[in-house]
Amino acid sequence: MSITQTTSNSLWQRAYRQFSQALVNSDSLQHYVEPLFQPFTQWGGFSQQRAQLEAIRWESDQVYTLVLRPNKTWQGFAAGQFVELGVEYNGARTLRCFSISSSPEQFQREGTIELSIRVQPEGKITPWLPQALQFSQSIGLSQAMGDFVIEDAHKKHKRLMIAGGSGITPFRSMLTQACADSDCTDTVLVYYASKAGEHLFADALNEIAQNTPSVRVVLLDTERHGRLQASHLQQHCPDFCDRDSYLCGPSGLIRGARDLLADWGVADDQVHFELFGSAPVDVDSADAGGRVQLRQSGKSIQADGSRSLLDEAESVGARPQSGCRIGVCHQCKCRKTSGVVLNTRTGARSDSGPEDIQLCVSVPLGDVEIDA
Ligand code: FES
Repeated sequence: MSITQTTSNSLWQRAYRQFSQALVNSDSLQHYVEPLFQPFTQWGGFSQQRAQLEAIRWESDQVYTLVLRPNKTWQGFAAGQFVELGVEYNGARTLRCFSISSSPEQFQREGTIELSIRVQPEGKITPWLPQALQFSQSIGLSQAMGDFVIEDAHKKHKRLMIAGGSGITPFRSMLTQACADSDCTDTVLVYYASKAGEHLFADALNEIAQNTPSVRVVLLDTERHGRLQASHLQQHCPDFCDRDSYLCGPSGLIRGARDLLADWGVADDQVHFELFGSAPVDVDSADAGGRVQLRQSGKSIQADGSRSLLDEAESVGARPQSGCRIGVCHQCKCRKTSGVVLNTRTGARSDSGPEDIQLCVSVPLGDVEIDA
């Protein structure tokens, strides 16, 4: 699959280079034409869209911030969006998605963005990045993506933000931007960490709250206060049912918050959420699991439905392309040639025939063959 993709990428790259040069006899138009071709070029697009590493700042012993200066082809972002970083790891091109923790205003003022990243103890990339990256190194950077943003139509609505762990990063961006815009919309942020003192950006968040009377920041820790519960919201944000809710954090927090808000009659269109971490595999189906045949590598796995097809394939040494691992970026799109899968993000069952699926959010419902 990767050979075919590389070949077709280079054809597309050559095509749009010739197209742009034919128009203006200059490479410069490539910067404008390239976004049209990005769905086809993927990594080729990263050869143009790059960022320089300006600094690495440790926020705690588990979280570091990359300060990046995107090049001129980068088109900016809205607070709450994320980017893909493309790095070479063990000779393989590897993509990972990270939320932008700084504000659009900082990008306009200084030309830099910040990605705050928690080291995943079992992960390959997040522990390796801060050691491997060099100052002023050039890194592949996608355009900003994602719709976890405050839309114009909702800008004046009162807000409840519920964050867990590293899920604070998009809220830091949103709140910092709101201060820069003098946007005084009534906002309550309820932020959960495991223990007292483990809240990321606590000083910066408290400073925002002190300087902005309409913003309240509530720092709770599950060790002392327990997990999210209605009494927390009743105490700290009694009118939570009347607000737009924005949720970001691990899947357990998102699921709990959505259930709680639904139980209290909050309408679905008032609730916006972004998952952090692996997509939840929460399959309540007697059909879950089956034999997974990997066509390209010739391997097969007996899956029990407790983890995604991406995890299953990687467990036997296959290396399908992947990025966010939460069903957002579509980098793990792969051809299923037969069998039925469940999309754990949408709850949709596939047909049994050939079709493209997202490996990171698919589990087999019976025997499945995929082109990986
Ligand atoms: S890796 Fe991003 S959608 Fe699967």
